[in-house]
Amino acid sequence: MAKKIGRNDPCWCGSGRKYKTCHQAFDEKILRISEEGHIVPDRSMIKTPDQISGIRESAKINIAVLDYIAENIKAGMNTEEINRMVYEKTTRMGGFPAPLNYNGYPKSVCTSLNNQVCHGIPSEKVILKEGDILNVDISTILNGYFSDSSRMFCIGEVSEEKRRLVETARQCIYEGLKEVKPWGFLGDMGQAVHDYAYAHGYTVVREIGGHGVGLEFHEDPWVSYNSTRGTEMLMAPGMIFTIEPMINMGRVEIYIDDSNGWTAYTEDGLPSAQWEVQVLVTEDGYEIISY
Ligand code: MF3
Ligand code: CO
Repeated sequence: MAKKIGRNDPCWCGSGRKYKTCHQAFDEKILRISEEGHIVPDRSMIKTPDQISGIRESAKINIAVLDYIAENIKAGMNTEEINRMVYEKTTRMGGFPAPLNYNGYPKSVCTSLNNQVCHGIPSEKVILKEGDILNVDISTILNGYFSDSSRMFCIGEVSEEKRRLVETARQCIYEGLKEVKPWGFLGDMGQAVHDYAYAHGYTVVREIGGHGVGLEFHEDPWVSYNSTRGTEMLMAPGMIFTIEPMINMGRVEIYIDDSNGWTAYTEDGLPSAQWEVQVLVTEDGYEIISY
């Protein structure tokens, strides 16, 4: 049981201000919403200004590494080369790749090709060719702070139907972002993503979602993109989570490769696309921390 903070005690957020002039009204508002029956964030999910600036610094590396991959990716390259570039660029900038050794994951990045939904493992045997679509998912640790984002890359000319999938998956992020605001619910964002994807004839993977991120790689809440407006966790200023829906061209079902225990594939073999942003809920909307 946590000790109750007095009105004149220093606020828990580390601002140095008195509780009554800092987060007291905020805490009372969250308590009220919780009493209405909603899921609400606990204090550990509300990042302090110092934590947010640490996470931003981490994200600068994450963004720079993705920019570096964007400049260098090309047909004929294998995904182990991408892994090496990610490791080199991240460590040269003073960071460390969060995937490496995470729960036994063997590489510094996930590279998911065509019908791979996520967690594709880089390999010298996977050679990029014209017409491929590839997700490169990068996560960085800097001074204990985590950042996480991913982008799609089209290798050379890709088919019209793959291009449309990649573009729709990207637009899903913006549709979701429109719903990120304080005192809304994660379900508002999740439904916006879901509805946009299904309106374009696609499906949204159910088993794998987004997550809180910042002090750990994966924190609560777990974030669904098959949720309903007004449900799921309340969004409060200071929360940081990912929007990273996996959009399938065909059926929604996936399976995990049991030879490595990581890589998810579409059951029907059709392509899947995913973009990921890391987003902060602010006092008046949101801010993209990593992309
Ligand atoms: N970067 C992925 C995400 O967006 C997580 C990958 S876990 C790993 O959440 F170990 F495979 F890297
Ligand atoms: Co993520």
